[in-house]
Formats: sequence, C-alpha cells, structure tokens
Amino acid sequence: MCGIVGYIGTDLAYPVLLDGLKKLEYRGYDSAGVALHLGDKVAVYKKEGKVSNLENFVQGKNVQSLVGIGHTRWATHGEPSDRNAHPHYSNSGNIAMIHNGIIENYAQLKEELVQKGYTFQSDTDSEVLLNFIEDIKINNACTLEEAVRVALKRIVGAYVILLLDKDLPDTIIAARKGSPLVIGIGKGAHYLGSDASPMLAYTKEVVYINDYELAIVKADELILKNLGNETLTPFVQQLDLELAAIEKNGFDHFMLKEIYEQPKTIFDAMRGRLDMQQQTITLSGIDKIADKLLAANRIIIVACGTSWHAGLLAEYVIEELCRVNVEVEYASEFRYRNPIITDKDVIIAISQSGETADTLVALENAKQQGATIFGLVNVVGSSIARLSHAGAYTHAGPEIGVASTKAFTAQLAVLYLFALKLATLKNTISQERYHRLINDLAEVPTHVQWILDTQDEAIKAIAEKYKDARDFLYLGRGYNFPIALEGALKLKEISYIHAEGYPAAEMKHGPIALVDEELPVVFVATKDSYHDKIVSNMQEIKARKGRLVAVASTGEKTLADLTSDLLYVPLVDEVIAPILSVVPLQLLSYHIGVLRGLDVDKPRNLAKSVTVE
Ligand code: AGP
Ligand code: GLU
Repeated sequence: MCGIVGYIGTDLAYPVLLDGLKKLEYRGYDSAGVALHLGDKVAVYKKEGKVSNLENFVQGKNVQSLVGIGHTRWATHGEPSDRNAHPHYSNSGNIAMIHNGIIENYAQLKEELVQKGYTFQSDTDSEVLLNFIEDIKINNACTLEEAVRVALKRIVGAYVILLLDKDLPDTIIAARKGSPLVIGIGKGAHYLGSDASPMLAYTKEVVYINDYELAIVKADELILKNLGNETLTPFVQQLDLELAAIEKNGFDHFMLKEIYEQPKTIFDAMRGRLDMQQQTITLSGIDKIADKLLAANRIIIVACGTSWHAGLLAEYVIEELCRVNVEVEYASEFRYRNPIITDKDVIIAISQSGETADTLVALENAKQQGATIFGLVNVVGSSIARLSHAGAYTHAGPEIGVASTKAFTAQLAVLYLFALKLATLKNTISQERYHRLINDLAEVPTHVQWILDTQDEAIKAIAEKYKDARDFLYLGRGYNFPIALEGALKLKEISYIHAEGYPAAEMKHGPIALVDEELPVVFVATKDSYHDKIVSNMQEIKARKGRLVAVASTGEKTLADLTSDLLYVPLVDEVIAPILSVVPLQLLSYHIGVLRGLDVDKPRNLAKSVTVE
C-alpha cells in the first residue's frame, strides 16, 4: 500500500507533493514525509500520522526546491513512527528513498550489510534496500542508476522506489515491480504518483510504468529502461478523469459522497452495455473470450474483501442463470494452495483498485497455467486490467473512501450483465425471465435514488439507537447472504464494532448463543423465495430477546410485527434485490461511524489498495 509522489520541474516541488500526498492518503496514513533537493544536500522532513501532521511540522522550514519525492505510509515492517517514516537516508546521507511494497529477502540483505558495518535508523525493509543500493554504488564505483539496476536483480518482493541523490540535483530515479507507478508529463515538468490523482490538476498525459522498468526522470526528459539497460519507448496515454471526481463536492466525507453517487455510477456501469430499446446486452469483453466461456467447465472468481462479496453473489447468480459451475476464491488462499487450473478454466478477477497484491499474484499464477482471465476492474490501466485477457471496467470513477461502496454496486451491475449475457449465449434463460430481469436492472439507479431520498433519516435514527452496541450480527439467506457479509464488513471497518455476517439458517448452529437483549441482529430480509424461512429465523432471535433490525421490501407487512427498525428498499426480483439491500447497510455503517466520532474515510489500520500480501 502507501502512496508515493514525486515532482521535478519549474515550480516549487513541496506544494505539489503535499497536495499529491493528500490525494493519496487513502492508501495509507501511518506517517508521511518528503525529501527535497536543497542546494548541495537532500533534506528529509517526515512525521508520524496523517499528512496534516507533516504539513504542520514543515511550516517555517526551507522548502525552496524544484525537485522532491513524498510518501504516505501503510506500515508493514516496523511500527508507525517518525523513525520508520519514509523517506529514508542511506548511510552516507547522500541518497534519500521512498518505497511502496515489501522486500521479502530484506533480513538476509540486512545481515550482509550489518557485517559490512552498515547501521540502520529504522526497522523497515525499505532502508535495507536503500543501503544495499548504496553499497553496490560504492563498491562498483557506478552511477546510482546502474546500482539500482544491479540491486533490483537480487530483490525478492514488490516495490516502487523513488530516489534522490545529492549529486544528481536534476534527476529522480524510479523503478517498479508489483506496486503501481504512473508518471505524468507536464510542460517542462514530470509528476510521479501511485495513481494519477496527484497529477490530475496539471496534466492529462501519463505513462504507466511496467514491472522491471526503471525511469530516469528529469524536468524535460523521461528516459525509460528495462533492467537490462535497454532504452524503451514510453507509451503515453490520455487520462479520462476530471479533477472534480476526486473532490468531496460538499459532502462531509468521501464515503457519503460515494454512497450518494450510486444512482449515477450504477447507471454508468450499464451505460452503452444495456440497451433497453433493443433489449440487448453488449459486453465486448465477453465476446472476446466467448469460445472459452462457452467451453469452460467452471468459472473461478478470485477477489478479496468487498470484491469477494460481489464474487460470492455472482456465484449464486451465474450458477442460477447460466447453469455453469462457479467457484469463489479468496485470492490470498488461492495463490498459495496449489489449485488445479487448466486452460479450460475462465477466471473472473474482481478488484476496485486493480492493484490488490493477493489478487494480482493469484492471477499471474493462474495465467501461467493457461487459464483465461476476465478482469472486472474499476481503475483504468491498473495492473489487473493490464494482465487480463479480456474484461469490463466498472466505470464507478475514483473511489477514495477506504470502505468500498459505489465500486461494489458497480461490480454487481456488471456481474448481472455478465450473467445475463452469458445465459443468452448458453441459452439457459427463458425470454420472459431475461426481459423481467433486465427491466428490473434498468430500474436500479432510480430505486437507489429512492432509498437515498426516503430512508436516510430513518437509518440515521436507527444508527443513533444502536451506535453503542458492542457486537452486531448480520444474517441473510440466498442472494442476500453475501449482502449480510458485506454489511458486517462495512460496519467493522468504519465503526470498529465487532460484526459477523452469517447465513441466516446457519445461525442456529452456533452464533445464536451470542443472542441476548443487547445484541442487534440485522436481517437482510427482502421479499424472496425464502421469505417465510427468514421470518422464522427472525422469530427465533426475537424469542431470545435479540434486537431486530431488518432490510425489508416496500409493501412488506409481516416484518413490521417483529420490529419497528425497518430499512426499506423497493420490491424487485430476488436476483436483483441485493444491489438495493446493500445501500441502507452502507448508510447504517456510515452513520454509526460518524456518530462514534471516527474518521470514516480513513479507518485505522486500513488502506485503500492493499498492494502488499
Ligand atoms: C472494502 O471496504 C475494503 N476496504 C476491502 O475489503 C477491499 O474490498 C479489498 O481490499 C479489495 O480491494 P480491491 O477491490 O481494490 O481489489
Ligand atoms: N515496507 C515498507 C514499510 O513498512 C513500505 C510500506 C508501504 O508500502 O507503505 O515502511
């Protein structure tokens, strides 16, 4: 994780870096720091905590520099502290470096360096890599660029590194493997970032750096090389992103803004794909791998966190509509358990960021074994998007809040389109059902708007009532089971309240022991074929004095006898209902988090894109 920025040009670097770090803070906020070329030295300013701490710390200090790099950390090696904050100095004090990622063989390298007399100021793996580079530079009497190249050949792990050398006042050296790096091309200036947001205000022309590439960045020149020292031609792309998309636009938090954007983002996810006049679905990604999909014995879905929940729902929907086997895998488990994969397998990779390390490596492994990869990704040009054979972007726009909301519903919208399209290709759906489902799908943006317009006040009142609970249970059956999991995850991340999601019927095999008059139990109980069953489950909780909250379909009467804490969503087909049921649960966690006085956009210990294992 972590955010990295760099600037070299004709303006003062520090304000550009600071602004960039604020935009990237969603990636990590354990500490922040900058290194600036100041005459004959490289100055490092760094501070534990959020970027605002750094900003206060730097006030009054010399920042008269046109070249700098900056870092906002998500700690992997060493606690969050001033000492472990990046940038780090090399032993000579001549080189400063920032790093995003993990150096897996750092312990061995550190031992070698300690034997040579190197000392370390931090507990980080990053400082080891830096001194390893410096050691090569000194021993080989070579340039920094050459030393970086030699060093990286021995590195196991993932990195983006940016380096400043006291003796190279007009250069930033950058390299990447496994973590993201974008370079923006300005007028007589270059901008570096973990994603494009820090450079959006200055340029729309960017180059996505690939693994094992090294960039020598000067104000008016960008030289790209591979680790074999061959010069490469940078592939310049135009950014299709507006600055307004990464601002809060009057909302108190990004999370709330993103929840409220959903009518538009769900519409955007289907725009140009769902044609209601022709009653057709176009997904060029499916066309591209149609033969593979039709021949596949099974589809494997690989993802993490909220994206995994979207995958779980997709399993239910694809199996139901397309009659093909679907397996849903946590990427972190899948990558290590030696799964059986053949060239007959199609993998759907779901990822908002497109940079999640576990997902990325799982896909690389599967691709090597011949599987076809379909990427369902939000961030255009991200690593997973580029690794996929085919795919579909979710078009939700930048998601800044660490808790995923609009990306999740956009994933669901595209997964529904995927399932419906595949079902027509496989001829496993009746015309009548197909038309009913696409009609319901087309109405989803309007229904979400209705939820936002009419339910938010009631949800806030429920949040007020339950905000001090110690634990929550979320229960759902069938299509709503993944939503129960997602509701619980949202609450955990945002409010730090322990929450468990469970299949409603499975609850009686264990978790029911938790129920007492203190415990709120949230049922995702929209009208579906299991409705009578879930009402019985609610009775079981009520009989044990649990406090019932339920997501219910409009027009629902039975649930009102059981509880007055109802969050309503419009009645739609049970297959489509989950994309609506999740919205009140997002709002419930948001309001509870805010009422508990927490920073909902940057919950503790988390980061937006998990680019480390
Ligand atoms: C969601 O609220 C989480 N912060 C997290 O679970 C996230 O969904 C997960 O890390 C996967 O990220 P990705 O979609 O960017 O791959
Ligand atoms: N592994 C490094 C550290 O713990 C970098 C982590 C990051 O990507 O922020 O400092």
